[in-house]
Amino acid sequence: MEYLKVSQVLKEKPIGKEVTVKGWLRSVRKSKAFSFLVINDGSSQGTLQIIVDANSIDNYEKVSSLLNGACVRVDGLIVESGGKGQDVEMQGRIVEIYGETDDSFPLQKKATSLEFLREQAHLRPRTNLFGAVFRIRHQMAMATHNFFNDRGFYYLNSPILTAVDAEGAGEMFQVTNLDMNNLPKNDKGQVDYTTDYFGKETNLCVTGQLEGECFAMGMGSVYTFGPTFRAENSNTPRHLSEFWMIEPEVAFMDLDGNAKLAQDYIQYLIRYTMEKAPAELEAIDKYLAFSAKSNKEKFESHLPILEKVRDTKFEQVTYTDAIDILNKSGHKFEFKPEWGVELQTEHERFLSEIHFKGPVTVTDYPRDCKAFYMKQNDDGKTVRAMDVLVPGVGEIIGGSQREEDLGKLQTRIKEMGMSEDPLWWYMELRKFGTAPHSGFGLGFERAIRYVTGMNNIRDVIPFPRTPKSCDF
Ligand code: 4AD
Ligand code: MG
Repeated sequence: MEYLKVSQVLKEKPIGKEVTVKGWLRSVRKSKAFSFLVINDGSSQGTLQIIVDANSIDNYEKVSSLLNGACVRVDGLIVESGGKGQDVEMQGRIVEIYGETDDSFPLQKKATSLEFLREQAHLRPRTNLFGAVFRIRHQMAMATHNFFNDRGFYYLNSPILTAVDAEGAGEMFQVTNLDMNNLPKNDKGQVDYTTDYFGKETNLCVTGQLEGECFAMGMGSVYTFGPTFRAENSNTPRHLSEFWMIEPEVAFMDLDGNAKLAQDYIQYLIRYTMEKAPAELEAIDKYLAFSAKSNKEKFESHLPILEKVRDTKFEQVTYTDAIDILNKSGHKFEFKPEWGVELQTEHERFLSEIHFKGPVTVTDYPRDCKAFYMKQNDDGKTVRAMDVLVPGVGEIIGGSQREEDLGKLQTRIKEMGMSEDPLWWYMELRKFGTAPHSGFGLGFERAIRYVTGMNNIRDVIPFPRTPKSCDF
């Protein structure tokens, strides 16, 4: 008998055919003569209703007493459904029980909070909501590869283990195989890293950008898509200690080209997801509406807004003008906007949510707010940086044109009190055949939050890692 995924049964509607389906029970309605089993196998949002007749299967007593979450294989006949909301259903002939559940199964029908489900991260893929979120995550990953591949970019696997602090922010997780209880010391009393695995201090990467630049300066256009790690002590709905980043890097591209690429990419992500996962977007929207209603909060679906963003040019403003807008707004901020200081989340959200009412690209930040590698403007104060801010999330993309002048880069590194030594190879990109180039990093989970409307970044990554939390 042919085994079909539930999604195939719902799509192909093989009426009159005997097939096999396998999945987990979402509900069981039992009566003496027959029972309704509703199963889902994760292949789509859809469920298949299966009717089992007491007289036509031999383990009816056992099958009809199954609880939610049990796993079964069913052979049966696909028939037209009389029920509302479904075209086909199955008349079960043979039910094999793979795995039962009991009363302690945590995913019961009653509404379960997202906080509770985070503690059940191993089981939440079985819920309607998380199935939707993670199918969308998959589609957005596919969209990413399609988008860059179609534009002639090469997919680059940048290393995860590194000896450089590429953002210069000191937020790195150290990697070592030294015995923590018996650290070797040098004659100054400091840890002797020459005996460590790599013979020097090493970390998990915070970005793949610097390696991306090496390949852009040879292969033209590349993008990375991999995990990055930050040991920042931020317990917020938009920070993770381990997150995924997509970082395109392009030779001969200036900041305007970079901003255009960022817009095209975000719009492509939205278009692709709306096309490939409309049922998932709908299901999440329904959940968010329901949950807002239970909390007596106002709810406005983000789907119509998303559609507009997909089709409208992003606003663009310089950092200096943005500070001006914030100060003239009359809005009361916790932190007063001040030129020379990095924008706070409240400022980012004001700009995108209230002032521009959509995504906005902020450019030309003060150089002291940004990393050493950004191209210096002639004013001696700002750099060719860009952040893309979106409503609800804030910063979703950070990027820049890169400093291609060796002398200027060396001066900047010195000014920032950094050492050139571990960056000798990065400097050589400027020494040998330098060229203008630019790139950016999109936080994958922030983008998923934006597209799905989910409020917490912990709910769009399979197993979130945050300060003091690394379970599963
Ligand atoms: O702005 P960031 O720090 O930029 C870079 O890492 C550059 N090397 C990118 C580049 O130019 N190639 O990080 C880029 C993006 C942010 O805009 C944000 O979306 C995301 O990465 N991000 C985080 N996402 C989740 N949790 C965190 N702790 C994040 N930190 C940054
Ligand atoms: Mg940033």
